[in-house]
Amino acid sequence: MRLSLLLHLLALVTPTLAIPSHHIPDKLAQIKRSKLTTISSGSEADSSKKKAHLTQSAESDVQTLYFTQQLDHFDPSSTSTFQQRYFYTDRFVYSPNTNGHNNLESNNRDGETTAAFLCIGGEGPSLDTSALINSIHCTGDMIELANRLYQEGWSVHLFALEHRYYGDSFPLDSDSQESSEDESAEDESSESEEEEPFPNYSDLTYLSSRQAVRDVITFIQSPQILSAHYLSTKDDNDDVQWITFGGSYPGMLSTWSRLLHPSIIHGAVGNSAPVQAELDFPQYYNHVGRDLGEEEIGGGEECRRIVVDGHEEIVDLLEGNASIPDGGDAIEYIAQLFNVCGGADALGDSQRNVEILIGDGVIRVPSQENDPSCEKELCNIEKLCNAIITESKSNPEKSPMHILATINNLKHGDECSDADWQDYIDYYSNPNPMNANDRSWLYQTCTEFGFYQTCNSDSDCPYAKGYHEVDRDLELCQKVFGISPEDVRTSIQSTLEYYGGWNLTPSAEAMEGAVPASGPRNLLINGGINADTNDQRILFVNGDVDPWSELAVSEQRGVSNDDEVISVPGASHHFWTHKIKESDGDAIVDAREQIYNVVSSWLGAAAASSIAEVE
Ligand SMILES: *[C@@H]1O[C@H](CO)[C@@H](O)[C@H](O)[C@H]1NC(C)=O
Ligand SMILES: *[C@@H]1O[C@H](CO)[C@@H](O)[C@H](O)[C@H]1NC(C)=O
Repeated sequence: MRLSLLLHLLALVTPTLAIPSHHIPDKLAQIKRSKLTTISSGSEADSSKKKAHLTQSAESDVQTLYFTQQLDHFDPSSTSTFQQRYFYTDRFVYSPNTNGHNNLESNNRDGETTAAFLCIGGEGPSLDTSALINSIHCTGDMIELANRLYQEGWSVHLFALEHRYYGDSFPLDSDSQESSEDESAEDESSESEEEEPFPNYSDLTYLSSRQAVRDVITFIQSPQILSAHYLSTKDDNDDVQWITFGGSYPGMLSTWSRLLHPSIIHGAVGNSAPVQAELDFPQYYNHVGRDLGEEEIGGGEECRRIVVDGHEEIVDLLEGNASIPDGGDAIEYIAQLFNVCGGADALGDSQRNVEILIGDGVIRVPSQENDPSCEKELCNIEKLCNAIITESKSNPEKSPMHILATINNLKHGDECSDADWQDYIDYYSNPNPMNANDRSWLYQTCTEFGFYQTCNSDSDCPYAKGYHEVDRDLELCQKVFGISPEDVRTSIQSTLEYYGGWNLTPSAEAMEGAVPASGPRNLLINGGINADTNDQRILFVNGDVDPWSELAVSEQRGVSNDDEVISVPGASHHFWTHKIKESDGDAIVDAREQIYNVVSSWLGAAAASSIAEVE
């Protein structure tokens, strides 16, 4: 392959955000590209092995470490474990009198000015050391706050914990693991060296948010972790206060960890956290439709109309309610217009193929990842709508469908759109190191959350209505994991009951295993947040452009103290947790200041906000 082409393809790979919105042709194209790059760089075998990350530069002050974690927290008799990867830095920890950081002897600071922040990992790209340096995960909120507190004399330990069954924290095959754990027999340990234990990627038995919450709690309470990082203060009664952070699914875990274990976790920030599990989630595309019409973010009514009408035009053609200009076949016409890989034969192969081409948009609207200052073509709603309006104005004879086709072409160039349902099923059906993260998340949607972004006939979806019903997603759960639609429904109901959704009323079962709360930190009464106290200490932050805000605790939805809900105008999916940039708008900067203030007040720190300092 020519290098220039390869570089071009690499540039097309957009960073996957937490909780992907799966536009199947785009996803299939991304899979194809990642295969190409893997082959050309020849690193496939290495990527699955435990090894130092490329991103860990020599200057990095972030340590990559492993914690021996219980595999099943709900079976006291189980002794199986797995290695959970975590990252740590003492960058913001004072260590007077020593050259190195943080010597216990010299650590004479009392607990009142020491805190530990935990960035929780989740689905999507595996964590690496950048999680504690600069990444989309916990930078603009957690790391910057730690920095500010440090400037004011606080010591803040920073941790990032990878989620089980993602990245390098995939449990090893149970058989090989048991033998490697057996430290007593020399014979056996040498045997296990011959056959290096390897994850069994088809076995997802202990993957769940419930286990993940317990992972967080076990990690935080581990004497090993506390001593390894000198978190115990001299006065044992004065424990270091832990604050959890996370965006998207990790945001859910952050809030649930505090909700279920208030005596262990002092406070939690849940950024863009859709805590209300839901099988059928048409509000996602309804929200996208509204975003398209939103002038403040560069959308507009005309832009929205063209997207809606363009899709209606396609549906009319396909359903025989409008005729093809040259009297041809509708499938053939659409396949050509939108450059479908394999043409009409492939598209017409199954109704599902047609659905995945048009039911999630023949063009994808970047609501969730909307970045007002991005530079690539069509990368945000403003640029997309500008292109649509420009095309419409300069070609008044073009129908909306043809405008969408032009935009689609602009976006994909020569690359055809892969609208092949079977390819998608096949991708998920073959467990391997490369698709492990994707499979793990799909599994969690089938067994816990749903979150299927449908475009139902009676919705306000701007795409082809009726072409993405939830039966498609249920089919995927069935075909990939053998999980029946009935079981998916039951599981989601169970998740809602267990955590209490956006009412924050966890079930007795969920609270049962909670470490007994004591003292003033016991904020949960009868399994619910005590509304009489102002000590919820769970902060929900949502972007109003982000479709996931529909399932989050916000001013409009769910139960929360008013002062622990922040809505960020113009912001997409936890945009404020990303790197801090010059181009960040006022609303983003302001949201961060609010987070710093709220968390600082939880810690009893003087507000770490430049604004508040003025007072
Ligand atoms: C991997 O896990 C699956 C599902 O639990 C199991 O059926 C299979 O036998 C396992 N494979 C190996 C090699 O252990
Ligand atoms: C079919 O097209 C006609 C004329 O454009 C329109 O009035 C009618 O509502 C359409 N029917 C459906 C089912 O879309």
